[in-house]
Amino acid sequence: MRMKVRNKAAFTDAEDVLERENRQVSYEAALEGIVLLENDGVLPLAPGKVALYGAGAGMTIKGGTGSGEVKERHVISILEGMEEAGFTVTTKSWIDGYAREYREGEEAYAAEFRKRLLKSGGLDVVNFMSHPYQYPFGQPVTQKDVEASDTDTCIYVVARQAGEGADRKLDRMEYRISDVEKENIAMCAANYEKMIVVINVGSVFDMNFLDEIPGIRAVVYYAQQGMMGGRAFADLISGKASPSGKTVDTWPKHYEDLPGAGDYSYLNGNVDEEYYREGIYVGYRYFDTFEVEPRYPFGYGLSYTTFSIEKKNVDVAGTKVRISAEVKNTGGTYAGKEVVQVYVSCPQTGMEKEYQKLAAFAKTKVLHPGESQEICLEFDLQDLASYREKDAAYVLEAGDYIVRLGDSSRNTFPAAVVELRRTMITAFCTNICQRGQKVKEIVPPPVRDTAEHPDEDLERFILEEDAVIAKTCDYEEPEAAFSPEVEELLDQLSPEEMCSLVAGIGQTGGKRFFDAPGSAGYTTSELLEKGIPNVCLADGPAGLRLQKVSTVTRRGKIKGVEPYIAIMGYLPKTMKKFMLGNPQKQPCIYQFTTSFPVGLALAQSWNASLVEKVGAAVGKEMEKYGVTYWLAPGMNIHRNPLCGRNFEYYSEDPVLTGKMAAAMSRGVQSRRGCFVTIKHFCCNNQEENRNRTNANVNERALREIYLKGFEIAVKEGGAKAVMTSYNKVNGTYVNNSYDLVTRVLRREWGFEGLVMTDWYATGKGLGDHCKAIEIGNDLLMPGGGNVVRELRKGVKDGRLDVQDLYRCAGNVLTGVLNSRIYQAFRKMRK
Ligand code: BGC
Repeated sequence: MRMKVRNKAAFTDAEDVLERENRQVSYEAALEGIVLLENDGVLPLAPGKVALYGAGAGMTIKGGTGSGEVKERHVISILEGMEEAGFTVTTKSWIDGYAREYREGEEAYAAEFRKRLLKSGGLDVVNFMSHPYQYPFGQPVTQKDVEASDTDTCIYVVARQAGEGADRKLDRMEYRISDVEKENIAMCAANYEKMIVVINVGSVFDMNFLDEIPGIRAVVYYAQQGMMGGRAFADLISGKASPSGKTVDTWPKHYEDLPGAGDYSYLNGNVDEEYYREGIYVGYRYFDTFEVEPRYPFGYGLSYTTFSIEKKNVDVAGTKVRISAEVKNTGGTYAGKEVVQVYVSCPQTGMEKEYQKLAAFAKTKVLHPGESQEICLEFDLQDLASYREKDAAYVLEAGDYIVRLGDSSRNTFPAAVVELRRTMITAFCTNICQRGQKVKEIVPPPVRDTAEHPDEDLERFILEEDAVIAKTCDYEEPEAAFSPEVEELLDQLSPEEMCSLVAGIGQTGGKRFFDAPGSAGYTTSELLEKGIPNVCLADGPAGLRLQKVSTVTRRGKIKGVEPYIAIMGYLPKTMKKFMLGNPQKQPCIYQFTTSFPVGLALAQSWNASLVEKVGAAVGKEMEKYGVTYWLAPGMNIHRNPLCGRNFEYYSEDPVLTGKMAAAMSRGVQSRRGCFVTIKHFCCNNQEENRNRTNANVNERALREIYLKGFEIAVKEGGAKAVMTSYNKVNGTYVNNSYDLVTRVLRREWGFEGLVMTDWYATGKGLGDHCKAIEIGNDLLMPGGGNVVRELRKGVKDGRLDVQDLYRCAGNVLTGVLNSRIYQAFRKMRK
């Protein structure tokens, strides 16, 4: 069958209704994802003259670099947003000067990049995007600038870029303020009466300059807010809306306050072996248990108004705890939203435990002054169970479970106690990912008093003896079973053809039936004759990454007009010429997608239904352009603020992470034939040497911290695909780990979808191709001819069992047959 490659791109660049609607969703998300860290009342500001400085003023960073870059039509910067909102920015010449400095720096960086590429022989395909261009810190702000600005109000925007393949550096001031910025901020704080600092960085930043520079009156954590961030920012600054974002990480006073600070990633000179010595004490779990004072606690954020939170009712049914709280806007002027958070301190009997952990959260509607709302929160005590390795079981230990209610991890009050009179096992499992010797973990100090002796007057519930019926996980693998249609197709495939099916194709390989230009990869197109079309896999998580403008020849050859990843712009001219199409010579096709706030910023909204709405918006774009799998959301834990991809991930907390990923999954998958791919499963918590690094982690921490979020996304969100990560866990590549992929994901959690590798994650010196299939990793990405040949060889010499191949091929095929592309393909063949 000879066919022209089909796509659903438009022949016009006109804006349509969906683009407009999704932009609005992006704006709403940005509005709720910005966190007000400090404010002495200087904010909000009435529109007027303002001096705007800093790297992110005119060139506001919308999101990090790497595979998750999104090519939207236009990004509203802070400068543009402020002007739109009626502010007069009086420092345009400083901002223009900054843009020049940026471009010069970028040229020098590009030259250096080309040299680096030449030296490496261009071999390290996936990591060529590491070490993104860092924004310059900016020229000194002079007395002349101040005088010319003619205002008493200043906003200084500090910006940092980060991305895939590299972690943030302490010595290069990626995590800290530079000298020139410090001087600039000090200069501005001394000269402007109203001084506001904005942090346009994708993860936690060192805020110690606040203690050194007097006169800073408000601090806004903008994070990276996608294409509409500038407008949302201006609307918050001017008081059109109140900030309602809350931190998703603990902001330490000093980097060194973090557990294992000096050992993280490259800092100890060893990027091959990473030891998770903090165990379960990640983020606030560490700060609260070890009594370290943070700069900003987890779950913290200011509003222009104030709220009261009062417990109304607590109800325990079985192991389900239901709490209702009355939230009231107690301020007199501004409307706003509040986030109610429930934490539980588990009894310190038996195993050591964290002081408290997040159990549930909910956000109010907009409450006007004086208005209240009753919020209902629910959680299952069984989800708080600890993993006890010695009997391979999750247990709820006997004692008092103190339920706390509040508006941040450090501002809660005890609302009830649930008492367990005996220790209960909730699930019998099998131990996984064992390593010869346990990682030596840090030991917490003696427990705080309050956790042991709850107030006598607290409402107390006693859990019934039979409230928990222990589940016994069944690890027996059932025989692979698929729908009749899938089985019929599978039966017509030879083992060689199944090898093609379980290896994908890359951006350029293969003769495709269907293309969404800019997709990161496709399933095979070699089986069109057998009635199996290829489907598209496009990147995320800040939106759908597709090529905005592509040229298309008469024979249907498609090439992007501009690089789809910033760093491609720095490639040698000849390479770019080869890779990019010329819009002057060929007709163009267009795909406009929306860039949303980055994962961390979305999570800062603490608004799961808003995130679900973002998911549905992405799903509509997938439908529009024919994408089947979205390679998102990213949901690794923020184990350390220096991880280069934290901006893509949600939080240091697995429950918040899991709930956000579940919401996103529900949203995307509400569109028929559109599936999420939760990634990177698991322990991809460092970017340096990401393809080979080994995460040494004890099982309890692995399960309670690093797997928990994925579990929630699978069980509550119904995520249909999972991407295994590059790294090893306790010596085994995740894509070769039967324990992780089959025992935990499929057997314990009941996952029935598709598992794929990360890009180029199997091969020589990495996880083995055949083994990956054997352990249940269905699709090797981006696959290609060599991978298919390797698999075929494996079948021949008995390294690859045809039963395993059949099972993986069936999982790939199930996704293909449920796609919209398959429907179109079938219609066309009739
Ligand atoms: C990244 C993934 C991404 C894939 C495809 C990899 O380098 O780690 O997150 O989905 O590339 O672009």
